[in-house]
Amino acid sequence: MASRVIPVDAFDLVIFGGTGDLARRKILPGLFRRFCAGQMPEDAQIIGAARSDLDTAGYRTMIKDAIEEFGGADLAQNPSMPGFLERLSYVAVDARGDSGWPELASLIRMEKVNAFYFSVGPGLFGDLAERLKRYKMADDSSRIVVEKPFGRDLATAKALNNTLAQHFDETQIYRIDHYLGKETVQNLMAVRFGNMLFEPLWNNQYIDHIQITVAETVGVGGRGGYYDKSGAMRDMVQNHLMQLLCLIAMEPPAKFDPDAVRDEKLKVIRALDPVEPHHVVRGQYGDTPDQPDYRTHAENPSSKTESFVAMKVGISNWRWAGTPVYLRTGKRLRARSSEITVVFKDAPHSIFGAEKGTHRNELHIRLQPNEGMTLDVTIKEPGPGGMRLVNVPLDMTFAEAIGPDVEDVPDAYERLIMDVIRGNQTLFMRGDEVEAAWAWTDPIIEGWEARGDVPKPYDSGSDGPTDAIAMLARDGRSWREISA
Ligand code: BG6
Repeated sequence: MASRVIPVDAFDLVIFGGTGDLARRKILPGLFRRFCAGQMPEDAQIIGAARSDLDTAGYRTMIKDAIEEFGGADLAQNPSMPGFLERLSYVAVDARGDSGWPELASLIRMEKVNAFYFSVGPGLFGDLAERLKRYKMADDSSRIVVEKPFGRDLATAKALNNTLAQHFDETQIYRIDHYLGKETVQNLMAVRFGNMLFEPLWNNQYIDHIQITVAETVGVGGRGGYYDKSGAMRDMVQNHLMQLLCLIAMEPPAKFDPDAVRDEKLKVIRALDPVEPHHVVRGQYGDTPDQPDYRTHAENPSSKTESFVAMKVGISNWRWAGTPVYLRTGKRLRARSSEITVVFKDAPHSIFGAEKGTHRNELHIRLQPNEGMTLDVTIKEPGPGGMRLVNVPLDMTFAEAIGPDVEDVPDAYERLIMDVIRGNQTLFMRGDEVEAAWAWTDPIIEGWEARGDVPKPYDSGSDGPTDAIAMLARDGRSWREISA
């Protein structure tokens, strides 16, 4: 199964915040991988723009070092490196002043696709958008890319949307949620809407409940300052888990086009029930012999910010009423594992007798690591000994099913940036979607603040606070084990 690389048109991509962490860790190594794969045309131009007083030679050295550090040894050795570095230039700009802008404008070729990546804090979005227009380097066909966090509540998200809307049309704004660029996340749509098998069963008649877990082993480390003002709810649930929930629960869109898909996702968010306080568990990780606890990482000894959250979510529509979705995400958990589990109901009657127990079908969709899917089906245990039933997985681990080409699958950022150049917004969040997600999230966070809620401590390397286990046990259910 050979992978197909479709080259994109020639483009100018300006990365504001071009010396920052995201640019060095993800954006530039990702662009280099696309360059190596032959997807980027020879006359593509990437311009780093930031405050630092660098020149193009210095920037090229910085990015070469970043690719070596974050892209892996194989990538760094790729003979295409000099050719890629030639595509890079750098301009020092003052986002709030005038210096650097005329020089930047002189580099932009208006006849090419041009895109501007705002890899900076949201406080600068308005300044950048206004100057792009003032210095005539963006027109009605230009694209801007903005990163999360897109606001910290509904009011701030609305203000950001309004600011951007003063300068750019919604069709020009690409709000990144990198989870939407992950291979298996798109596969969710392929599995649901490309097969006859699942859709007839995909509802509250046949599905008992759904679990979405995004577990990480890392702590908040050097990002404590940012994270302590966000917490897992703002950092992960409002965006990444919400997007996964939308793709799992949405109605089939009429076609795979940006607004058709995003209209359906929006309907899911608007159908979410308010979350009852006893349907949420918050946690904060403790220390280990070699790692400090959350509060030390956050440099806030009395922090009430959650590094873990688990919740039970109801969707009030015909398809899902009565079938809950359990969300769970946290730092410093047992394993790095992102997985969606769809648990089907028991067969209505066991012809093998009650003592054979129930063997439910479960569909496990693994986002990372080892992307793939398994479907647990019940079979007779082979051999003598009567009719003994056992669950076995029908396993479609992509690495095995697709073979070595799986290595060539672009990572989330690579894919999303190429989609920006192609002008395809399907995997980006629309403004109304982000606002709806905040409208659902805000009352949950406001409730914690009003009650002075303190997160439950949990051991690093565990499954999170025991209360999260108890929450499912009360419903007669249990979490799927967190394992890599
Ligand atoms: C980011 C969050 O958006 O996603 C981080 O800010 C989190 O806190 C990261 O670690 C997880 O991304 P991934 O792709 O490693 O699952």
